Amino acid sequence: MEKPIKIGLLGAGTVGSGVLQVLHENAREVALKAGAPVKVKAVLVRDAKKTRPHMEDLLVTDKIEDILEDEEIQIVVELMGGLKPAREYMLAAMKAGKHVVTANKDVIAQFGKEMFETAEENNVGFLFEASVGGGIPIIRPIMESLTANRITEVIGIVNGTTNYMLTKMTEFGEDYQSVLKEAQEKGYAEANPAADVEGLDAARKAAILASLAFNTRVTLDAVSVEGITKITPEDIDYARQLGYVIKLLAIAKDSPEKGVDVRVHPTFLPKEHPLASVSDVFNAIFIKGNAIGEAMFYGRGAGSLPTASAVVADIVSLARGIVSGEVREVGFQTFGEKRLCPVEETVSAYYVRLLVADMPGVLGAIATAFGDEGVSLNSVIQTRKVGDLAEIVAITHHVKHRRIERAQRTLSALPVVTKISSVIRVETPPTKEVE
Ligand code: NAP
Ligand code: HSE
Repeated sequence: MEKPIKIGLLGAGTVGSGVLQVLHENAREVALKAGAPVKVKAVLVRDAKKTRPHMEDLLVTDKIEDILEDEEIQIVVELMGGLKPAREYMLAAMKAGKHVVTANKDVIAQFGKEMFETAEENNVGFLFEASVGGGIPIIRPIMESLTANRITEVIGIVNGTTNYMLTKMTEFGEDYQSVLKEAQEKGYAEANPAADVEGLDAARKAAILASLAFNTRVTLDAVSVEGITKITPEDIDYARQLGYVIKLLAIAKDSPEKGVDVRVHPTFLPKEHPLASVSDVFNAIFIKGNAIGEAMFYGRGAGSLPTASAVVADIVSLARGIVSGEVREVGFQTFGEKRLCPVEETVSAYYVRLLVADMPGVLGAIATAFGDEGVSLNSVIQTRKVGDLAEIVAITHHVKHRRIERAQRTLSALPVVTKISSVIRVETPPTKEVE
């Protein structure tokens, strides 16, 4: 057997501790598959005094130099999260000739170009399978297995925390704060869970997926983002009554006419849609390619061991390259520059919930306001009263986003409309061409 390949681990939290556990429990399998034993030599943490499992024989440090200056360490595994200092530590590791594995979607979604270029300049590998979909193999399939295709669509549930929360809120009527706490306790949420519930984590993943799938640069700022913070039990209940479930979707489309459209938002999904039954912490990603047709990837999207599974697979891949003397820079691609489709031009059906005066003629006034802005209604229901007011739910036909925004402004100006409580996209096949 070859001599051990030494790892420097940056971070020993939820994912880092999972990596230590997998490397410890599966040491034999990993060694056989890598062609050499894989050993963590040093671990960087904030609190080097804290006792942690599987770290008895390791150097536990709070000084990055202990890892960067150790010539025996060939692979640095970054699992601290956030931009700072993770980005600079990874760049320094690559400049020191070390290969890098990371689960850090924040850095890749914003600084992917810099990371890939630095890896190439320094002849090292940079792998990031765990950055999207937790344990689901999705980066490598897009970058390697699906390269024969022109990919036109990637649609997925890519945030475990919010999918867990929406599932518990829908199936058990649990309240928002307590399900968020549960997701945090299970290690699914980001250090700052606002990134999960406000859709930023999913947007980062959408940017990474779109860049790789469409061979273009999509950074976080190009993604239109809306999280689940405004979803109420009433919306969940209406969705159920109307035959839908609410899911936070990441949607990326590439068409010659419109360009690249990347967005994250809550969506009413018909109950029979394959993504509707993806529940709990599970994630699923649909890919449409012109050769394969549709392919779907499914698995646990967050959590210690599932994410460690993807991280350790990247470590094994690099270790194999080190053993064979040829690390392939699978992290690098030559990207083109495609037009980005502004969110106003995107098309969808919408669910609109309004509180209105309960008096004759109100429905007509509302339908006219929608119609004046070119929004055609598919159905309108009025089921309950809120105090003296009536609650109305309208589902529109497909319409450009800018029209629904204008309709909201027109509706808000009507004296009979007290409040527009919710506006949520509905995923249904388009029924007609949209202007
Ligand atoms: P975590 O539980 O908060 O752990 C972070 C670890 O990094 C801790 O050990 C912490 O040290 C250390 N750390 C943070 N800042 C540091 C600094 N400035 N200097 C030294 N050490 C520092 O985070 P996590 O959930 O494992 O997530 C790690 C990464 O994986 C993130 O990029 C996250 O987005 C990604 N990810 C997470 C999941 C998941 O399910 N959790 C899934 C996929 C990807 P102390 O222990 O001393 O505080
Ligand atoms: N916070 C993330 C999630 C971790 O809930 O999906 C996995 O990237």
